[in-house]
Amino acid sequence: MTYAVVSPLDTIQTVDVSRNNGVIRRVRRNMAKEKQMQNIISAGQERPSLGAKANTIQCADCFDFLPSLPDASVDLIITDPPYSTPTVTSFGRTLVKNVGDFSIQETYIKMLKTEFERILKPSAPMFMFCDDSYYPSIFRAFYNWHSIQMLVWDKGKIGMGSPFRKRHELIVYANRSVLDYNRTDGITHYPTVLCYKPVGQSRIHGAQKPVELVRDLILGFSQPGDVVADFFMGSGTTAEAALLTGRSFIGSEISEEYCRIAEERIHALRSPAQNTAEICHTAPKNRG
Ligand SMILES: C[S@@+](CC[C@H](N)C(=O)[O-])C[C@H]1O[C@@H](n2cnc3c(N)ncnc32)[C@H](O)[C@@H]1O
Repeated sequence: MTYAVVSPLDTIQTVDVSRNNGVIRRVRRNMAKEKQMQNIISAGQERPSLGAKANTIQCADCFDFLPSLPDASVDLIITDPPYSTPTVTSFGRTLVKNVGDFSIQETYIKMLKTEFERILKPSAPMFMFCDDSYYPSIFRAFYNWHSIQMLVWDKGKIGMGSPFRKRHELIVYANRSVLDYNRTDGITHYPTVLCYKPVGQSRIHGAQKPVELVRDLILGFSQPGDVVADFFMGSGTTAEAALLTGRSFIGSEISEEYCRIAEERIHALRSPAQNTAEICHTAPKNRG
C-alpha cells in the first residue's frame, strides 16, 4: 500500500520556524533555491525518474521496495534500521552469545548495501543509525567504500545500561568517493560527536530520531531539490527533515501503523513546527 505523503512545497513555507536561528535562515534560503529547482524539475532536466514514488512512503518491506527504484536516482540516504542484537535470552535470564550470529546481521546489511550501491548516485553519501553491537557488521559491510566514519549522537542524558548507562547512539557515514559537506551556510565543521536532545514526551515512535539532527545532516550533505531516502521511515523523521530543507524524500516502512503515523506527521507540517534546540557545546559551530 502506498501512502502518498505528498509534500506541498508551497505550504512548507508557512511552517513557523522562527525559533531556530541560523539554521532556519539557511532553510529559508534553501527553500528559495528549491523554488528554482522546481522549475528545473518541471522542465524535466537532470532529475531522476522516480515518478509517482517521489515524496511518498511505500508501506512495504524495503527489500521488496528497493528493487523498484531506478539506478542512480538517490542523492542521500539517511536510514535507521531496527537495531537487532544477535543474542538469545534463555529462561529470561541467561544471555547466549554466538559470534556466528553476526553473519545474519552482516548478510542483512550487505543486501541493503548492494541496493544502495545501485540506487545512489556515485558520490552520494549514506548515514545509518546503529548501536555498538550493530556497528561492526555495518563497518565490515561498507569497508570497501572510499570513506567510512563513525559518528556519535550524544543525547546529553543517560538512559538504560549496566554498568555504564548509555548516553549515545552511533551513526555510520559512508561514501564511495570524496565528498565534502556544504560550507556555504555558516557551518565550518561537523564534529564526530553530534549533540541533539532526544525526542521527549511528544515521541510518536519508540525509536524516533530528532528531526533537527536529520535536518542538519541533510543540509550539510545534499543540495536543495535532491532526493533523500530512508527505507526504515518509522514515524517519518527523514521525510519531515527533507521537506523542511527543500528536498524530496522517498522510502519505505513495513508497519502500516507507522505508515499512517508518518503520513499524518507530514500533513501536520502545515501547523507550527516543534522545535528543540541542540543541547551541548560540541554541536556544529558558527551557525547563523
Ligand atoms: C529504528 S525504527 C526507525 C525510526 C525512525 N528513524 C523515526 O525517527 O521514527 C525502524 C523502523 O523500521 C521498520 N522496519 C523494520 N523492518 C523493515 C523492513 N524490512 N522494511 C521496511 N521497514 C522496516 C520498523 O517498523 C520501524 O518502524
